[in-house]
Amino acid sequence: MNLSGELVAWYNDNKRDLPWRHTTDAYIIWLSEIILQQTRVEQGLPYFNRFTERYPTVADFAAATEDDILRLWQGLGYYSRGRNMLKTAIQVQQEFSGTFPTSYLQLLKLKGVGEYTAAAISSFAANEARAVVDGNVYRVLARIFCVDEPINSPKGKKLFQGIADDVLDKGNPAMHNQAIMEFGAMLCKPKNPACGICPVRISCVAFKTNATTYLPVKLNK
Ligand code: ADE
Repeated sequence: MNLSGELVAWYNDNKRDLPWRHTTDAYIIWLSEIILQQTRVEQGLPYFNRFTERYPTVADFAAATEDDILRLWQGLGYYSRGRNMLKTAIQVQQEFSGTFPTSYLQLLKLKGVGEYTAAAISSFAANEARAVVDGNVYRVLARIFCVDEPINSPKGKKLFQGIADDVLDKGNPAMHNQAIMEFGAMLCKPKNPACGICPVRISCVAFKTNATTYLPVKLNK
């Protein structure tokens, strides 16, 4: 099996049951991804449930007031996220006739949607072959391929995006992306990764050379 196949097999046996993994609604996936920026899954989950219950569609969200949104956001921090989400929902009404975009290039036109979020939404909602690169993915790839290029340098970012694109299973992008992020979050953890039970340790260069502790490399800017 190739690397993606191994990660997906692991994912199918070990994944957490999370509500945003049961939908292909781009708006709902967008909600989850924005909430999960700088927020742990356990903390974000009740907020996700409250937001989707109160605002089941992007039209409902766009019709809210900033006060409504910020009240529901209370406790999550980084309040600019909540404020920007309202602007994005209104932008979807005005520029996309109320239909939340699902293509990567269209998603990049939305306020607050960068490369990671556009790859996540387009792959999860439309199975577009775009590789996500978040903190989990940097760590997994840095270790398996033993890459010590800093993840926050322009050169490093390009390098890791290229590796992520190569590793992506173009026939199964949605599940591949969920799998590699979940693998990073649950097994290939920043501290004390579970190498003893890792399905890809035979091909993991950092495991073989005892370098997991030092990877990924991040520059203090
Ligand atoms: N963090 C960001 N996106 C996520 C996802 N789709 N599943 C779990 N954790 C995430």
